[in-house]
Amino acid sequence: MAQSSEPDPAKLAAARAAVALVQDGMKLGLGTGSTASIMVRELAARVRAEGLSLRCAATSKATCELAESLGLRIESLDGIGWLDMTIDGADEVDPDLHLIKGGGGAHLREKIVAAASKRMVVIADPAKVVEQLGAFPLPVEVLQFGFETTRTLIRRALEELDLGDRDVLLRLKGSEPWVTDEGNWILDLHLQCIPDPVALARALAAIPGVVEHGLFLGMCSLAIIGKPDGTVVRL
Ligand code: 5RP
Repeated sequence: MAQSSEPDPAKLAAARAAVALVQDGMKLGLGTGSTASIMVRELAARVRAEGLSLRCAATSKATCELAESLGLRIESLDGIGWLDMTIDGADEVDPDLHLIKGGGGAHLREKIVAAASKRMVVIADPAKVVEQLGAFPLPVEVLQFGFETTRTLIRRALEELDLGDRDVLLRLKGSEPWVTDEGNWILDLHLQCIPDPVALARALAAIPGVVEHGLFLGMCSLAIIGKPDGTVVRL
């Protein structure tokens, strides 16, 4: 994952503020996406400069490759066990710190790693902060087996929540389905708004064929929002 240009200053500010929370000896979860990649680079630079001893688990193959290329040692999540902190990006953050994640298709591993962490810190630029979740299409990872059945069941669940008539689109790479690290497919739910994230999360989780949805409710304890001038706001 090469970084061809200067990092976005708002993402860099958020990433630096999160990396400043890291202490020697910590067990860390490393998120996925462009903001998380900046954080991994900043973390690796701090480890090199200060000789920190950390144990890290990655939330995707891409993050694992990037971290290892920068000299960070990645271990399996089960090998490390409970994590002190996970630092990850998000596609949307609402005032209750509920999130939409999965724009990069890694929300399944991201949610497992976050659930294994005492603390989930989200890093983001101001465009990710919203009053109500849902403008960003909600990613739902589904099994390939019977995926049209799963899509129909999702549409029925949306209708029951008065969210019918919305696009439920298979994520593509070129003309082929985009495949996750776990070999599954992703349906992106173009909902426009999610009035009741808890009810939607419950309904999606109950559908056979749904592996994991991108609603992260009550998991994030701190969101660090970077600004283009290099300052941050903590939510
Ligand atoms: C990947 C994610 C990312 O954290 C999310 O998409 C934000 O990415 P970026 O920092 O590139 O905007 O959930 O599954």
